[in-house]
Amino acid sequence: MTEGLLDVAVAAAQAAGEFLVASRPASLRVATKSTPTDVVTQMDTAAERLIGERLRQAGPNDAILGEEGQDDGAAASSGRSKVRWIVDPIDGTVNYLYALPQWAVSIAAEVDGVIEVGAVLDPSKGELFTAVRGGGARLNGEPIAVSGCDELSLALIGTGFGYDAGRRARQSQVLTGVLPIVRDIRRLGAASLDLCALACGRLDGYYERGLNLWDYAAAGLIATEAGARVGGLNGRPASGELFIAATPAVFDPLHALLADLQADRD
Ligand code: IPD
Repeated sequence: MTEGLLDVAVAAAQAAGEFLVASRPASLRVATKSTPTDVVTQMDTAAERLIGERLRQAGPNDAILGEEGQDDGAAASSGRSKVRWIVDPIDGTVNYLYALPQWAVSIAAEVDGVIEVGAVLDPSKGELFTAVRGGGARLNGEPIAVSGCDELSLALIGTGFGYDAGRRARQSQVLTGVLPIVRDIRRLGAASLDLCALACGRLDGYYERGLNLWDYAAAGLIATEAGARVGGLNGRPASGELFIAATPAVFDPLHALLADLQADRD
């Protein structure tokens, strides 16, 4: 069943990726969400609609949770389907808005509350990251694995910031505590691609407070299947409270540092 779900996720992500590249208008219409810097364009909503149509063709009774408001939980809650799709039509919307090539289409399938399948497509690089629970992670069909980095001081760490000014002020304090301890920091602008970068050895660790499920549902599975350790603080699951992912040897020291810095607090 899960391979079938992966095929559906990949086909929908590819259709959306082609649309977002080919139909990008000269000027984007921008509306704001939680804050004036949290943006949504007509392309986010159109891509989410297109993905929803594809997913519904394949599984008419599946539920869909989408970043841009698609929340069709009725099918799953009525028991007709155990599948819920978790969709971010454009992760890295600000990069897309500025025509920076670091944004992705992210689609995960959750079955009975467990993420079983993830697909993250980076149309700018032509890179498709995929994973099926228990089946490893792949980049364009080839198996991938996290780096062998085993020292926090040599680790290249990705992170990101929320859209709320108060949260950002706190995130900048945490960042000043992390920066002197690690090799360097990258803020690339799309959480799903940060986690995929970890999965294929382009980063050694990643943390962020304030992510939404659609940012990490697919890529969290991809990183895990590539051998990353993924979690929150003190044994809690990775979540919006705090999402930590790293090579197995870097996870504990990164976790200890973030716990010291109280990175789970605003
Ligand atoms: C955002 C990106 C960004 C992360 C933010 C997310 P969006 O998602 O993933 O890298 O730092 O926390 O909200 O808004 O572009 O879909």
